[in-house]
Parts: sequence; C-alpha cells; structure tokens
Amino acid sequence: MFITFEGDDGTGKTTQILRLAESLRSAGYEVVTTQEPGGTAVGKQIRHVLLHSGDVSPKAEALLYAADRAHHVDTVVRPALERGAVVLADRYIDSSIAYQGVARALGTDEIRSLSTWATGGLLPDLTILVDVPTSVSMARLGQNHDRIESTGFAFHAAVRQEFLALAAAEPERWVVIDGSKSVDDVAAAVRRSIAPVLARLEERKTGQ
Ligand code: TYD
Repeated sequence: MFITFEGDDGTGKTTQILRLAESLRSAGYEVVTTQEPGGTAVGKQIRHVLLHSGDVSPKAEALLYAADRAHHVDTVVRPALERGAVVLADRYIDSSIAYQGVARALGTDEIRSLSTWATGGLLPDLTILVDVPTSVSMARLGQNHDRIESTGFAFHAAVRQEFLALAAAEPERWVVIDGSKSVDDVAAAVRRSIAPVLARLEERKTGQ
C-alpha cells in the first residue's frame, strides 16, 4: 500500500506521517517512511542542490525533482511495496504538479508526463492532503527559509489552490484533512481516513 502526503510548506504533514507510522507499526504493519526530495543518498544531494545552492532555473528544477523521484521509486518505494510494506511518502508527483506545473507555470500536462515517465506510472493508493490557509502555513515556517519556502505568498497560495483542485478532481484517491486543528485531532482524522484502504489491504491478504 502506497500512501502519499501532500500540502504546502508548513502544513505539519511530516509530524502526521510519523504519527501514522507509529500507529500502523503498533498494529503490526511493516511501514517505510520516506520523503521527496531526499529519500535516498543520491536524492539527498539533489535536495541540497534544489534547496540550498542558489538559483535553479524552473525547468532544471522540474527535472531535478523528477530525477530524485525516479531514483527514489526504483530503489526505495517499489522494493518496499513488492515485499508488502506500507509506504508513507512525504510528497510525490502531486507536489511537482502544484509547485512546478502551476506555481512555476511550467504546465501541469508536461510535469505530469515527466513524472509518469520517471516513475513508470506508479501512483499512490491514497493521497492525504493536509490543508491549512496559506497565511497560517507561512507563519508556521518562522525565519529560516530554504529557496522554495522563501518564495512569496502568491506562489504558496497557488500551490495550495492546486492541491485542493487536484483533490477535487480525483476524490477517490484523495482525502483532504483540516491541518489547522491540534496535532492529535489531525492524527485521528488521518487514521480514520486510511481505514477503507487498510480494509482493502486486509482483503487482499486474506484472498491470497
Ligand atoms: P519538504 O521536504 O516537504 O520540505 P521541508 O522538509 O523543508 O519541510 O519539501 C522540500 C521543498 O521542495 C518544498 O518546498 C516543496 C518542494 N517540492 C517541489 O517544489 N516539487 C516537488 O516535486 C517536491 C517533491 C517538492
């Protein structure tokens, strides 16, 4: 089972991934938590180039995120899924669509087909959007911003709107969770939202 978490910077999704991983592990599942960019050794170097090495032109940025994703899927995500683990990924293709496709205006079709090629078409079973108003997520980021975080309000507002639009267009894959509630309340909502997917996984296991 492949579950991705999406949301603008500062929405608290990383905390929620750790909480969900804990609860799934205590229910006996093998869980792999990972992230993009930077879920592999090569990816960590790509992440550094993307976030902490000065200006990167928009198309180069899109290609670097896709390169990170290709390597990540081949070496971490697919092997984990093949041995039956639950994979929880902090960001995936939808981040590229929202950030590069829309906020950087490179085009959603181009960015989607680039990532589809990079991943061999691997899509998540479920995508959890942790949504908070842009004014709240930007305030949560505090003072130390990386290259993408320091882009202005309009950029982040566009990212948020695109995530909401993607979720509305494909409701069978996405759940939208209000990330402005307390960490415990959000964690409970995340657990409720994955119940149907877990039920499908159990059916698959017992059907084998
Ligand atoms: P993330 O690891 O979520 O940020 P942090 O750990 O600093 O909270 O993501 C790093 C940044 O990369 C974030 O600003 C979103 C951006 N990003 C894209 O622009 N496109 C992508 O495809 C991905 C995966 C991330």
